[in-house]
Amino acid sequence: MTAERDTVLHSWCMQSAWNAPTVVGGAGAWLHLEDGRRVLDMSSLAECSNLGHQHPRVVAAIRAQAEQLCFVTNAWGAKPRADLAARLLELSGFEGGRVFFTLGGADANEHAVKIVRQAFGKPKGVVVARDRSYHGSTHLAMALSGDTRTRAMVDPDAMGVTVLPP
Ligand SMILES: Cc1ncc(COP(=O)(O)O)c(C=O)c1O
Repeated sequence: MTAERDTVLHSWCMQSAWNAPTVVGGAGAWLHLEDGRRVLDMSSLAECSNLGHQHPRVVAAIRAQAEQLCFVTNAWGAKPRADLAARLLELSGFEGGRVFFTLGGADANEHAVKIVRQAFGKPKGVVVARDRSYHGSTHLAMALSGDTRTRAMVDPDAMGVTVLPP
């Protein structure tokens, strides 16, 4: 039985049914399991590893940065953050824009809605989300998600979200 089964909550499943194999490593598109098998990672480990697993250049870049500085708070500047923001603005073509870094998708969506509402107020700051969509697991992101499994667990009205009939 997988070690974390009794100690970790897993999303999108019945807890009692979860019993996935343990991944101990990876190389390129392959994942290595504890029991010696290897499996082709068809989801880029849920979209986060689209450069493959343990790509030598990615590993080297992470190592080099970690050896120099692992973390810097928002109160201080950091060259890697400045470089990344400049590159993102260049790629997006959003001249004169600014980048707000978040920790994940739901977080990003929450901030986007807050920024739009603050900048424009209603009705111009209206955010349209599609039926049958998923925007994350925070309360507002769940209210915006068209997927009924998420929206049914929150009160969209309390989040300022109007649900229109499909
Ligand atoms: C379209 C979309 N938006 C938001 C999210 C939420 O991202 P996170 O899990 O990083 O909060 C996801 C995650 O699957 C997503 O697919």
